[in-house]
Amino acid sequence: MKRVKAIYPGSFDPPTNGHLDLIERGSKIFDELVVAILRNPEKDPLFSVNDRRQMLESMTAGFENVSVDTFHGLTVDYALRVDARAILRGIRAISDYEYELQMALMNRKLQPGLETVFMMPAEKYSYLSSRLVREVAQLGGPVNCLVPALVVQKLREKMDVAHKFNIDDDGGGPEAAPEAAQRMSPEKAIDAKPKSRKRKS
Ligand code: PNS
Repeated sequence: MKRVKAIYPGSFDPPTNGHLDLIERGSKIFDELVVAILRNPEKDPLFSVNDRRQMLESMTAGFENVSVDTFHGLTVDYALRVDARAILRGIRAISDYEYELQMALMNRKLQPGLETVFMMPAEKYSYLSSRLVREVAQLGGPVNCLVPALVVQKLREKMDVAHKFNIDDDGGGPEAAPEAAQRMSPEKAIDAKPKSRKRKS
């Protein structure tokens, strides 16, 4: 019998309990499921691709048929490269439908042999998005019921660094910010710089 491999592409910035719910559902109907993180140089993510990969690997360690990978370029090209026959996407509410339908039809146009399969996460996650998790965390709200403990920890670390950086920046004179930045890894220092972000998902 033919084995069915699927990819679950997305930004996962950060991965949420809703993503995990969908991964679990997908792992039950596909023989193999690859969670594929888009490497998009044009986006300004909160977490690096490496961070997201680590979080997802840890979250999915219990699923034998689930792996994590990264890709750039067209999703359909990546799917073909890894021999997948389906693209898994989640639909939380009717508001997701229009965008997802458009994307599924475009992907079908680009690669007619590839099917998009939509699954619905549990109702309790129907309002949950990475964008809202980022926003709540950045404004100091609790996110422990929205994302796995590991992601809560990673968010906390990000927020602590950003907070420290801002305080030093405001109160410590011109030298303080670079000093604070020196105590961080270069990646964190860059992420912690106050900047206006525009994110969609
Ligand atoms: O988690 P997201 O941000 O909703 O995921 C969107 C994603 C990564 C699935 C979509 O942006 C995508 O497939 N990007 C890769 C480029 C591509 O294939 N574009 C054409 C889609 S029709």
